[in-house]
Amino acid sequence: MDGNGRWARERGLSRLQGHRAGTENIRRVISNFANHGVRYLTLYAFSIENWRRPRAEVRGLLRLLGEVIDREVHNLHREGVKLNHLGTLDGLSTRLQKRILAAVDLTKTNTGITLNLAFNYGGRQEILMAMNKLLAQATPPESVDETLFSQTLYTADVPDPDLIIRTAGEHRMSNFLLWQSAYSEYYSTPTCWPDFNEAAIEDALQAYSQRQRRFGGLQEQQ
Ligand code: IPE
Ligand code: MG
Repeated sequence: MDGNGRWARERGLSRLQGHRAGTENIRRVISNFANHGVRYLTLYAFSIENWRRPRAEVRGLLRLLGEVIDREVHNLHREGVKLNHLGTLDGLSTRLQKRILAAVDLTKTNTGITLNLAFNYGGRQEILMAMNKLLAQATPPESVDETLFSQTLYTADVPDPDLIIRTAGEHRMSNFLLWQSAYSEYYSTPTCWPDFNEAAIEDALQAYSQRQRRFGGLQEQQ
């Protein structure tokens, strides 16, 4: 969800006002993708590396997450959204940890779109977490295959992403779902996150529908 800062600067607003506008876009985006039949949506909200930002901005982003959970979780629950958290709770306040866990618990049996919130998330850290977990369980090396490893990640039971959309014109992975994105289609749009609306979603899905996915094979084998 990139471009909140640039969106704000273009309007003479503070970066935090940009982040706030970004959170106000979340509900619209979820229902738009759900209406298109998307079953899993992952929002990259806060990376492990985002702790490097100025303290006031970090504090603002953490506070915003708490506010979004308080404001949205009951609506999302009513709409049947199942919320997952991707990332670590380490470093978050006890209060925020409880809010995240409660929201995940409240929605865990919902059968609508699954919303993965990548918060305090890093792809490399996730891979190391999984490796350490397997080692701590004394997993026999010969039993460590792609299936077991995938099941040990935060995204256990979540399919690999078909499409990764990056807003605000960047062309970087930024430590996002490194294992899971091996064959994801990548799409970048210049639109900043707060402006990422229905038309922008249509454009992204339209572009995706033109891709030919071969997963390393040849077209004829499909
Ligand atoms: C939001 O956009 C990303 C978050 C970490 C929440 P940015 O804050 O990266 O916006 P730009 O890149 O400065 O425009
Ligand atoms: Mg950015």
